[in-house]
Amino acid sequence: MSLRELLVPITDAEPTPEVRRFLRDAERRIDRFQSAAQVPAFVPCDYATAYTVLRALTDNALTRGPRFCEWGCGFGVVVDLAAMLEFDACGIEIEGTLVDEARRLAEDYDLPVEFVHGSFVPPGAEDRVHKAGTYSWLTTEGDQAYEELDLDIEDLDVIFAYPWPDEELVVYDLFEHYAGVGAVLATYHGSAEFRFRRKVSDQKKRPKRKRPRDR
Ligand SMILES: C[S@@+](CC[C@H](N)C(=O)[O-])C[C@H]1O[C@@H](n2cnc3c(N)ncnc32)[C@H](O)[C@@H]1O
Repeated sequence: MSLRELLVPITDAEPTPEVRRFLRDAERRIDRFQSAAQVPAFVPCDYATAYTVLRALTDNALTRGPRFCEWGCGFGVVVDLAAMLEFDACGIEIEGTLVDEARRLAEDYDLPVEFVHGSFVPPGAEDRVHKAGTYSWLTTEGDQAYEELDLDIEDLDVIFAYPWPDEELVVYDLFEHYAGVGAVLATYHGSAEFRFRRKVSDQKKRPKRKRPRDR
């Protein structure tokens, strides 16, 4: 199995007024949270662009299904945006205070999403993660998240993550190892940069037939 880069035609279509209102409120809450609390691992991504990215994935039928999960979801804003676009959306976050905030925000907008307090690193992958490097923020405790969500990584059609630079390779590795064939990984890398990978099965190369003059 391997990952293939996926081209997603992103337009600069503006989010709807309802989405813009939601994002203004979410950003206000995040500002308040960040000035009062100390969760240095949490940095919000570019939510307006995240919305256009998710829209491009659905408008262009680039996903194999509707199951969406955000790995390290913070305030759950991208999960909420995914739900607004009819994804069946959930998020996993290791910081309990952020899970509380994510649940509050989604409840206030009556969004059908699920947030779990735990690690997106699945049970049994801890050694794999620690062998792959050292990380400023990535932790591997709390590996009951998928059990609580009652799903396996293999079931997910789209995974979104905003990894810290030292986590990028291990996020790709976990996705490549555990996701199902056809699933899409969307990642944010600062500024307005999003990248997309699809997990594909490696076709065995057929042996070339000999041309008559080679025989
Ligand atoms: C750079 S922030 C991105 C937050 C969110 N994706 C957003 O864009 O608003 C990374 C998040 O991952 C969380 N995190 C780190 N390790 C984690 C793990 N093993 N499982 C779940 N969340 C984790 C951090 O607490 C932090 O909230």
